[in-house]
Amino acid sequence: MKKNVGIPELMRMKKSGEKIVMVTAYNNWQMRMAEDAGADTVLVGDSLGMVEHGLPDTIGVTMEMMELHCRAVMRARRRSFVVGDLPFMSYEIDDREAVRNAGNLVKSTGIDAVKLEGGAKRAATVKAIVTAGVPVVGHIGLTPQTTTQLGGYRVQGRDPSGASFLLRDALAIEEAGACALVLECVAAEVAAFLSKRLTIPTIGIGAGPECDGQVLVFHDIVTLYGEFKPRFVKRFCEGGEVLLKGISSYAEEVRKGAFPLKDHSFAADEGTMEHLEAIQE
Ligand code: KIV
Repeated sequence: MKKNVGIPELMRMKKSGEKIVMVTAYNNWQMRMAEDAGADTVLVGDSLGMVEHGLPDTIGVTMEMMELHCRAVMRARRRSFVVGDLPFMSYEIDDREAVRNAGNLVKSTGIDAVKLEGGAKRAATVKAIVTAGVPVVGHIGLTPQTTTQLGGYRVQGRDPSGASFLLRDALAIEEAGACALVLECVAAEVAAFLSKRLTIPTIGIGAGPECDGQVLVFHDIVTLYGEFKPRFVKRFCEGGEVLLKGISSYAEEVRKGAFPLKDHSFAADEGTMEHLEAIQE
């Protein structure tokens, strides 16, 4: 049996070159699957706003939503390191509020670490949360909570100026005490460079093969969500198709009276029906 994953194990994996597998999960059955598949770390991402709640983006996700989903996930946690996103506007106003929100999310759900978006300008916030005793995972590159400022969903760090901003951001977040760093939609060569340069593990999504680990959204891996497929997603199975087939067969059988049959039903005791007939007269 593999041992529980904590920060020392993630650091060991980085040092030994063993790839770190992170997957998102938002509820209990997804977490059971992530654990069964042997994920090292699980992210309760604010992407749950889109894939679980039908929101257009992550902006409308609240602390209450994060708490509810983190609790459901934690009830199925066996060995993986669980990270929960701090939602938009829960850590930007001031560091005291950021520490309070991070602490509450960890205390009320049992997750291992929080993740927040942003580079150098969030370094002080990361430091305040880590100093308070809550492990933090950073997230730079394409940061979905601030895509408007980034000019939309674009690959980051392609040109020399973008790449040097990423280097500055990555070093600032490491220096602030983060235990890992998500690199989202970052030019592959730049992500490889950052992964070599940093001592903490990098977890890539759309950031090429040379990050220390990879993360994908559960629904993208198994094809459960929508038509849009970003270039960095690989669909590993057609889960949505299998589920739709099952639900459609159920609907068809109910309509034609083929389900439920005797096998799916419970019989009353002998004499019960005679009794009912007798008392209704
Ligand atoms: O919310 C999320 O799922 C994420 C990943 C895309 C890294 O932040």
